[in-house]
Formats: sequence, C-alpha cells, structure tokens
Amino acid sequence: MASLTRSRSVPTTIPNHANFEYYVQRARSAGLVMTEGTLIVHQGTNWPNAAGIWSMDHARAWKRITDEVHNVGGKIFCQLWHKKLAEKPVPGPSAVQARGGEGLFERFGLDKSAGYSMPEPIEDPMAIIADYKNAALMAKEAGFDGVELHSANGYLVHQFLDFNTNKRTDKWGGSVENRCRFGLETLKALISVWGPDRVGIKMNPCGGYDDVGMPLEETKETFTYYIEEILKLKVAYIQLVNYLPQMDPELDGKKRGTPHDVLKTYGPLVKDPSNPSASNTTKLLLNGALNPDQANELISSQLIDAAVFGTLWIGNPDLQTRVEQGKELNMQLDHKTFYGFPGNDPKVGYSDYPDAV
Ligand code: PHB
Repeated sequence: MASLTRSRSVPTTIPNHANFEYYVQRARSAGLVMTEGTLIVHQGTNWPNAAGIWSMDHARAWKRITDEVHNVGGKIFCQLWHKKLAEKPVPGPSAVQARGGEGLFERFGLDKSAGYSMPEPIEDPMAIIADYKNAALMAKEAGFDGVELHSANGYLVHQFLDFNTNKRTDKWGGSVENRCRFGLETLKALISVWGPDRVGIKMNPCGGYDDVGMPLEETKETFTYYIEEILKLKVAYIQLVNYLPQMDPELDGKKRGTPHDVLKTYGPLVKDPSNPSASNTTKLLLNGALNPDQANELISSQLIDAAVFGTLWIGNPDLQTRVEQGKELNMQLDHKTFYGFPGNDPKVGYSDYPDAV
C-alpha cells in the first residue's frame, strides 16, 4: 500500500483514532503498508493536518497504530517527508521559487496571488540530515518496521537532485555526484538507525509535480548514478514511480515532466543478476496506475519484486483479499474527501469504506 496524503491528523500533527482505524483496516490484507508522507519537522510544512514523527508525542501515538497493525499480521514503514512551502523561511537547496504545479493552493483554498514562497538556501544540509535521523529514531520508538525516504515528487530530496532547483556551488550542488549527495547522506543517516534492510526509498525520475524535471539525458544520468550508489548501500527496496500525467502539471502551456519508461530505463540496474553491485539484496518496487493483472504479470516475469497500489486502497480497505478472491473492486470514490472532510469528521471518506462481503 502506497503512501497516501490524507490530511486526517486533526487537530494537530499527532495521529488520531481515525488514522488508527484506517491503517489497521488496511494492514489486515496489505503485504506492507507505507504511511502517508510523515513530517520530520514542523518547519517542513504548512500542510494542514499532515501527520508528524519528530517528537515522543508523535511516537507514542504512532505506537498504538503499529502495535495493532502487528496484531493483525501487518507490516508498516514510516515514510519520512520534508515539504517545502513552509512558514517562512522555507528551507530549500537554493533560492528558486516554484512556478506552480502543486495541488495545495486549490485544495486548501490558499491565496494563490501570493505565489509560491521563495526558499531560503539551507546553510548546512547536514543539519537537515540530523532532523531526518531524529525522525528515524522516533519512528523506531513508534514501533515501525522500517522507514522510507521520500525522494520523489519535488520535495526536498528531489529538489537537491534536480539542477533547476539546486543551484548550489558547494559540494551539495553542480555535478551529478554532488546533487545526489543529499539523498545518499540522508539514507546513510537512516541506515545508521535502522540498518540497511529496514530502509527504503521512493523516487519518480519523470518529475513534473512541484515544478521539477530535467531534460531526458540529464535525468537518466542523474537517476542512474543515484540508483547505482543507493544499491551499494544495500537498502531494502527502491520504489520507482511510473510517469503519471495527473502528477505532471501544465506550466507555460506545456507539461512540465520528462516522461520515459522508468522500469525499462532503471529496472535492469536493480534486478539484473549480471550486475554484481545489486546482488539482489535491494528489491524493486513499482508504483503508479498499475492494475492487479499487470502487477501479477510484472512479478511473475521477474521484472519487479512487488507492486505498490495507492488509489485502489482508498475505497478498498481489504484490497489484497478482494484481488485474491476475485471480488469486485470499489471504484466509487468521493474525491472531495481525498484531502478534506465534511463536518470535521476525519472518518468520512477515510476509514468508513466497508470491506467486501
Ligand atoms: C499530495 O498530497 O498531493 C502529495 C503528497 C505527497 C506526494 C505527492 C502528492 O508525494
């Protein structure tokens, strides 16, 4: 089950009973649940009611959830998220303002005329990596099975990878090697807490969302090096995300992203047995508009190790069981309740979808 931002941690950033119900319902059938993007520091967002994992209060609240997930036979990784668009000053690799491409403004009715905030270049990226490490420690207190580094969708780690958002002239910017340094050093910090087999990473090389994306050649060069270096760390998995047109906004009259076949381009780096650096320790996960038949086909032909589903889990809390038993999937989703909820009841459109009978 993929990370799904649902903004239900009312009234603060501490997971609540609606979060508890939602995750436990799904953990009964999912092989591995990845939490929604979970904030590593409060400064990292102005996103309303996103869950956090930077304090013992967060850890204690998550522990109730992870304990019950384990009781019902599930496994759960915490996705570590650092968002831009924070209250000022917003940290970023460089002072480069997003031109658009995120749903936040429309979704929460924010004043668009103010535009996207101007990031304040991070003085010492190691200080932010220390925040990731603290979140990893809190995730351990919270009883998670592991952590996933959110390196996709134009958020902080992705901003370091992309030369449009990273204009740094120090060792954290410029060359491919320098732009990949932040993600790799962050992974090492997470590994120091969890060990490599409990750390995963998610990336979407096609970009788009949040105004990131490089020309194809530079994209391939950057992500090939990134993946090769990640494989040396022997992490649990690399989760690749397919090109998704709905995650690729139109800016200046054209699509922002760099569509290419991520499985064909990067899959062989991870799954090719003739590549000794992979040595099959790191699993390859694929996410993005897959259907269960395609997933089975990709897994049985050894092209991927596991398939990740997002939207299908929203209306089908027992998705895996339904697929195994050939039961009909509920595709009737109320999009208005993806991020918000009427009457201030976080359960609505969230933990109130029934299992199949
Ligand atoms: C979103 O809520 O739109 C969102 C959040 C995290 C992502 C992608 C999209 O990684």
